[in-house]
Amino acid sequence: MDEITALQRRLARERAARQEAERLLEEKSLQLYESHQALLRRNAELQNANAQLEATHLQLLQSEKLASVGQLAAGVAHEINNPVGFVLSNLNTLKRYLEDMLQVIQAYQGVVEAPDPQRATAIRQLDQAKQAADWEFLCEDLPAMLVESSDGLERVRVIVQDLKDFSRAGTHATWLEADLEHELERTLKVCWNALKYKATIVREYGQIGLVECIPSQINQVFLNLLTNAGHALGDAGTIWLRSGTEGPDALWLEVEDSGCGIPPENLGKIFDPFFTTKPVGTGTGLGLSLSYGIIATHLGRIEVFSPPGQGARFRITLPRHRAAEAASGSAPGNT
Ligand SMILES: Nc1ncnc2c1ncn2[C@@H]1O[C@H](COP(=O)(O)OP(=O)(O)OP(=O)(O)O)[C@@H](O)[C@H]1O
Ligand SMILES: [Mg+2]
Repeated sequence: MDEITALQRRLARERAARQEAERLLEEKSLQLYESHQALLRRNAELQNANAQLEATHLQLLQSEKLASVGQLAAGVAHEINNPVGFVLSNLNTLKRYLEDMLQVIQAYQGVVEAPDPQRATAIRQLDQAKQAADWEFLCEDLPAMLVESSDGLERVRVIVQDLKDFSRAGTHATWLEADLEHELERTLKVCWNALKYKATIVREYGQIGLVECIPSQINQVFLNLLTNAGHALGDAGTIWLRSGTEGPDALWLEVEDSGCGIPPENLGKIFDPFFTTKPVGTGTGLGLSLSYGIIATHLGRIEVFSPPGQGARFRITLPRHRAAEAASGSAPGNT
């Protein structure tokens, strides 16, 4: 009998222990469920924050693009204004020449049609008309003026073409094989207006050949570097444009200026977004940070060298082919 009671007690204890364990288990799974829910919520929040960050980043890219488009538009308007101005003034002169020529032609007609006794008078009138028109000068000047005008219009055509090429695929990230020395020259033409009175350009190209890249983005980097170099020069100075290869699969391009240089304490900050030493309204401080991002997308690297008092040299190193780099995982940016 005692044995039965002892067994029953043990059973009751075990049941109680099991119930306690089940309760604990339930409590734990409730806790787990709650922390899982909290994690899900946190994850959603993070995803949200990430999406917002991405949207802000895109907005920044867009506004930087708009800012440079604004600068470009002002420069291009100036560049186009010159030739258009002289073509217009040439057209006015040509109109006057044409009126004079019509007078002379009329006088010739008078000579041809005049009966013999009046021919001498008609010839005198023709001479007068030719003198009034400054005939010899007109005959020399007219063709020259036409050549000058068509050169001017050709310049406008080239500027517009450069601008179109520059912004080509601006909205589509198209990877293409591009000649980056050529692209650098193209970008230089686009911002030439801001540089032409103060910069001497020295080219030391190494004929690097074609590179797989998104040319519109690389042009944005070039534009930032050239604009910065122009700002750094102050009134006058030199900008060196260089290129070369680094082993069989990589190449580099440099923009160096003889300007004010970058103080050592700023060297670590210039690629930070919004870091600028320019007066309010001049710089947003985004040029280099966006350039850094673009070069990183290309699996390349961008470096700066600025020994005190010796201007600044920016070097971009890029893999020649993105596929090869992505496959090997050894981007120059990671070395
Ligand atoms: N070639 C250079 N010489 C001297 N300082 C430079 C040069 N390039 C960049 N810097 C310094 O780095 C800072 C950041 O350059 P970044 O291009 O990012 O911005 P920003 O030129 O000031 O403005 P933004 O490009 O947005 O108009 C500049 O304000 C300047 O102090
Ligand atoms: Mg800049």
